[in-house]
Amino acid sequence: MILYFSGTGNSLYIAKKMAEKLNDRIVSIADLVNKGQHKISVKADESIGFVYPVIACAPPDIVTNFVKKVVFDGYDNNYLYSVYNCAGSPEYTSRIMKEAGEKAGLKICGFFDVLMPGNYITQKRHLPPEKVQEYLDHCDERIAQIVSDVEKQVCNYKKEKHSFLLSYGLHKLAVLEKTEKFIVDDTCVGCGKCADICSTQAITMQGKKPVREEKRCAFCLGCVNVCPTRALNVGNKTQGNPQYINPYYDGKARGVCQL
Ligand SMILES: Cc1cc2nc3c(=O)[nH]c(=O)nc-3n(C[C@H](O)[C@H](O)[C@H](O)COP(=O)(O)O)c2cc1C
Repeated sequence: MILYFSGTGNSLYIAKKMAEKLNDRIVSIADLVNKGQHKISVKADESIGFVYPVIACAPPDIVTNFVKKVVFDGYDNNYLYSVYNCAGSPEYTSRIMKEAGEKAGLKICGFFDVLMPGNYITQKRHLPPEKVQEYLDHCDERIAQIVSDVEKQVCNYKKEKHSFLLSYGLHKLAVLEKTEKFIVDDTCVGCGKCADICSTQAITMQGKKPVREEKRCAFCLGCVNVCPTRALNVGNKTQGNPQYINPYYDGKARGVCQL
């Protein structure tokens, strides 16, 4: 089983490609959290993977909190692994996942990373479009390597070199951005794409305008990245910065990748 969380489709792309090669099933962590479901049945010989983006130097809080609470019914020392993807600065992501697993009595032992185009739209740095395909081609090779390691049940945890405290502080600081005002300006056409992409159901359309419930927001920035008129911003940091959605993603919360 591959449990995934995705804001703009990169993690879903990876989860789907891995599932095809491993002949495995994919399950959305956001769907389970929305339903308040933390108990999942697993078969004794089934490997269990977590696929997710790095959000501010760490796994998304929704993923960490899920891992701390999850109960795998039928768990018998199943092989557990983690696959994060990011734009190049993971910091202490693997360590957080490892410790979250330990809190739930789970030994996550395979740790893998994939470099992906960045969707961190509060930042100005961005890949030119021609580079996006280059990254995706490279990521397919990386996924093939990870699949081969998962089949061999590789255990490879290595302590990150970064300062845990510095990274912890950076995560808390960056996640504060989430509390900034959710701004919807007059160019909003009420298309609802922001609500469609929001897997945590934090956005609802009210009177043809999106309204965000901050408590449910995972700060994946899918909403800002998908808005066709750039009407939607979180604070003033996202305005005018280039958007990114994985080109194979259909932009729906229970989205599919048209691979
Ligand atoms: C709020 C936010 C914070 C992010 N922080 C980081 C980071 O600290 N390091 C990094 O390399 N990428 C960071 N990213 C980029 C994502 O990890 C990357 O684009 C990922 O592939 C997105 O996956 P998704 O499409 O499944 O959401 C961040 C993205 C967002 C939205």
